Amino acid sequence: MAIKNQGIVQRKNDHLDIILNTPQDVTGASTGFGNWRFVHCALPEIDYDAIDLRSVFLNKTLSAPLLISSMTGGAQRSKFINHHLAEAAQELNVAMGVGSQRIALEGQSDCGIDKSLRRLAPDIPLMANLGAAQLAGEKGIDSARRVVDMIEADALIIHLNPLQEILQSDGDRDWAGKLDAIAQVVRHLTVPVVVKEVGAGISAAVAGRLIDAGVTAIDVAGAGGTSWAAVEGKRAESAHLRALASAFADWGIPTAQALQAIASAYPNTPVIASGGIRTGIDAAKALRLGACLVGQAAAILDSATESTQAVVDRFAITIEQLKLACFCTGSINLDALKTADIIQCGGGS
Ligand SMILES: Cc1cc2nc3c(=O)[nH]c(=O)nc-3n(C[C@H](O)[C@H](O)[C@H](O)COP(=O)(O)O)c2cc1C
Repeated sequence: MAIKNQGIVQRKNDHLDIILNTPQDVTGASTGFGNWRFVHCALPEIDYDAIDLRSVFLNKTLSAPLLISSMTGGAQRSKFINHHLAEAAQELNVAMGVGSQRIALEGQSDCGIDKSLRRLAPDIPLMANLGAAQLAGEKGIDSARRVVDMIEADALIIHLNPLQEILQSDGDRDWAGKLDAIAQVVRHLTVPVVVKEVGAGISAAVAGRLIDAGVTAIDVAGAGGTSWAAVEGKRAESAHLRALASAFADWGIPTAQALQAIASAYPNTPVIASGGIRTGIDAAKALRLGACLVGQAAAILDSATESTQAVVDRFAITIEQLKLACFCTGSINLDALKTADIIQCGGGS
């Protein structure tokens, strides 16, 4: 088990290095948000300083509808990253999902994902994280309970990453029965379950199966941001795996398309938009297209390695951009933004 864990830790370390050092090489297809433009309102008739970005998620009121998306987890430096992110989330009063807690479940290190995170961020929605692969079998429900308890989480995020698993030499290849395992966890857990992808998107059809299984919210984590096929391609040891991965570098459902499809098919299910969100304008478009919350991962990794203040500063820009997008569409709050004039100006969504 120890040797296996060292392998996982090394893999997570490689992921951090690749995304931090060569982000331009691992960004996949377009998010689709570029195909949408708000209609500028030259006469907003509202006070900029009165714009209200508050929203409610998991029964907690956030200052802005933003989520620090799950980032693992395996490397020692993750401890600092997680602490910076938790402190920043508390200061900004936005939601946070931790990275995969698999290492903490299976090994010695918790990578800073422990109750100290809850102490740093007592008031925000804090979400635990585990892959669907870790939920199969008899230990699945126990594992889910343990990761939630580990950080006193408000919800559990289950991530789906079938493409990435196949592109890892030791990845999980058997995805039969995963929906059943998710349904079991939903039935036995006392906190809500959110299901997300990791950058290839969730279709309306898959969302429907998850909603039928009792899942509370869907995070589309669509294509256009971090491409895990590209990341795995960069660290692949064999030419075979490299060729397989590179062909799938821009695979996936663009974030805007996945969001729109799920939000229109399931209007009563909270949908989180993530995957390639870079600015507050993207966030505004995502909210307009039906998201209740907007998540960012790779875009804040750099500042998360630096300091809490760097993360706060980074998010402050996104929040101000979102506010200005509200102003320039004459939207005094997020309800108004949801009906702001927007046009589709490119092909597809
Ligand atoms: C360094 C890094 C580590 C990640 N680790 C996890 C993880 O452990 N669990 C998870 O559900 N998603 C993980 N993700 C995926 C993100 O949560 C997100 O779904 C994906 O990166 C798309 O968002 P982005 O384009 O803003 O990066 C990770 C992303 C990054 C950049």
